[in-house]
Amino acid sequence: MDFLKIQGGNPLIGEIEVSGSKNSALPIIASGLMVDGCLTLKNVPNLADTKLMLKLLDQLGMDVKSNKEQIEIKGNVNRYNAPYDLVKKMRASILVLGPLLSKYGFAQVSLPGGCAIGTRPVDLHIKTMQSLGAIVELADGYIQAKASKGLIGGKIVFPFISVGATENAIMAAIFAKGSTEIINAAKEPEIEDLAECLISMGAKISGQGTNRILIEGVTSLSNTNYEIVPDRIEAGTFAIAVAMTGGELIIKNFYHRHHDSLLNILKLCGINFVIKGNSLKIKSNQSYNAVDIDTSPYPGFPTDLQAQYMAMMTLADGTSNISETIFENRFMHVSELMRMGADIKVKGKTAVIKGKEKLLPAQVMATDLRASVSLVLAALTAKGTTIVNRIYHLDRGYATLEKKLGKCGAILERIKN
Ligand code: UD1
Repeated sequence: MDFLKIQGGNPLIGEIEVSGSKNSALPIIASGLMVDGCLTLKNVPNLADTKLMLKLLDQLGMDVKSNKEQIEIKGNVNRYNAPYDLVKKMRASILVLGPLLSKYGFAQVSLPGGCAIGTRPVDLHIKTMQSLGAIVELADGYIQAKASKGLIGGKIVFPFISVGATENAIMAAIFAKGSTEIINAAKEPEIEDLAECLISMGAKISGQGTNRILIEGVTSLSNTNYEIVPDRIEAGTFAIAVAMTGGELIIKNFYHRHHDSLLNILKLCGINFVIKGNSLKIKSNQSYNAVDIDTSPYPGFPTDLQAQYMAMMTLADGTSNISETIFENRFMHVSELMRMGADIKVKGKTAVIKGKEKLLPAQVMATDLRASVSLVLAALTAKGTTIVNRIYHLDRGYATLEKKLGKCGAILERIKN
């Protein structure tokens, strides 16, 4: 298994560019199952997860072509089954459920099972399809959903916010007869991106970016050429990285309107930054205050930046509390950060972090995507050699991370094993 060898202790200086958003690209690629004609996507990040979603569409019968960050999806589905061996590798495979059911009236998708950050059920996805008239059965570990005469528009009221279930609801409603109303919808920028892409194909959607989304059923979706929005989690990871290592970075493709919560927290920490168009210039002398956060759905502090922010707090002046309110088991990075000398105590949903002057190099193990990048950030500050094992997790969500950081003065190398 490949690992990263990191020589810590260097500031990050220079320019770094944010790639397209993984969490936008995944549902948008899945929406390609519904197009008549061709869906052309630009700025698709070259990641293990996007490749897996394209492989799934290919297995379902679609004609998929990719050339660097541009992909084309066309053709028709001739299988309706998302198999366990793909779904277990990537939970977002559940996002083919809505499109398949909406366009073809049938879908069979494996239940994903648990994962490193919690049990992560898919009950809301299933209830959504039932609200639109589908008959759903669970058998042999699969969700089997049918709507032989097509889905029918309806009212979907989510008891709590789910990004994926909101996306599946939007896609399922595209060809449903009549109108669909989604109440307590997720407001994440990735939901807006999906809706904008679908609208450019001819869908009738309004209210995206608010907690009430309306969809008027249409009969077809046509060709479009759409550019995926930059990845706000990758952008936030770079901002936290420079705060920790010291130095000065210009982060390009930084859509500051997606980052209110992070920028407010960084300001409270005492980190200096300037926003210029779609760039963020950020400077740090490695000295900053400890500030508490609670993760919450957008526009709150993203759970996908919690691990990186915790790595930052291990070196802050003072003690901070980090509460994880979205996932029940998202503190897998704690024990690895402690192996690097961090002082962290977990009490239920809250981690209490006492800032220290430095972290120490060690051999550590990545456990999930965001946990693994938090270890990379910690390693960049620790003088000496840190080995981060199991970096296949990193490749799921960060395109050419070692090249991007290496260009800014970090010393890190991928060792093929
Ligand atoms: C998406 C993101 C992920 C991010 C998460 C929260 C993608 C591909 N992934 O994941 O990076 O961390 O949003 O911002 O976009 N839940 C249920 N039943 C359901 C669905 C969800 O109980 O049917 C629970 C989950 O276990 C979790 C909470 O709802 O506790 C929120 O999860 P959700 O917003 O659905 O996350 P994902 O869409 O899986």
